[in-house]
Amino acid sequence: MKVLVIASGGDTPGMNRVIFNLYKKFKDSLFACKRGFSGLIDGEIYPASVFEPKKYKNEAGVCIKSARCPRFITDEGFKKGLKNAKKFDAVVILGGNGSAKGAKRLAENGVKTIFAPATIDNDIEGNEYSLGFHTAVKACCDAVYNVMPSMNAFDRACVFQVMGRRCDKIAKNVANAVGADALVASEEELNFQKIAKILNKNFKQETSSIIILRENILPVEKFISNLKTMAKGVEIKPFVVGHLQRGTKPSKVDIKKANQISKNILKAIKSKQKFAFTYFEEGCCKIK
Ligand code: F6P
Repeated sequence: MKVLVIASGGDTPGMNRVIFNLYKKFKDSLFACKRGFSGLIDGEIYPASVFEPKKYKNEAGVCIKSARCPRFITDEGFKKGLKNAKKFDAVVILGGNGSAKGAKRLAENGVKTIFAPATIDNDIEGNEYSLGFHTAVKACCDAVYNVMPSMNAFDRACVFQVMGRRCDKIAKNVANAVGADALVASEEELNFQKIAKILNKNFKQETSSIIILRENILPVEKFISNLKTMAKGVEIKPFVVGHLQRGTKPSKVDIKKANQISKNILKAIKSKQKFAFTYFEEGCCKIK
């Protein structure tokens, strides 16, 4: 049996563990696309051993490399990818919403396809948890814990910009975990007057302030310059957590989730199902 694994979209902590688990099972029968669907289209497909999955099993990132691939949405790109996918008995796709759509299209065109939720954003429809979310939230919280002692020394405010291009889950979870003074997870929450009032009050009381800002609402520098007009005496610093969220070593939680997902991928490969969607519900990994 020849199995192909593809990582698509933003890499996420825990992807490498899934790839290693598949490699442990299939050894030389496991192949990997280099750079997501781009590799599938261009035929950049190699034995998984080439990417040294064992070496990376506890690391973030993804050893087989990923890509965002608009070409796969075009009929021409899809057709080329499909031709290569058909050379395998099963294709495993790790990624987010866009990748799930690509996976489904492959299945509809006759490829046995298994999709596994893997994105720090945790925004996949019909799925409670996606691989890497815990690590991403933890990386943001650690950034806050490590930066704030210095902010406290000056009674400064710090705006932490966290990822989530179209999704507010990371921002909300981080704000809740660190007890933020203000959260801007959506455009509706952009209330400078209200936030400035909190900052001014904290400053008067000789304390610092934590603001969590989701990316893609307003650039952090612009956000701060607007805020400064209303919180004049307060020094406000930016901190972009950025790719620390994806580059941080997977947490124990994500390693456990990766192992659960891997088991279900193996089950799905054995099953007769043409398309399997592995997902989390009530903490358990399931297949539909
Ligand atoms: O994978 C999801 C994500 O991390 C989003 O939260 C973020 O907006 C985006 O990817 C960043 O992507 P890139 O690394 O391609 O800039």
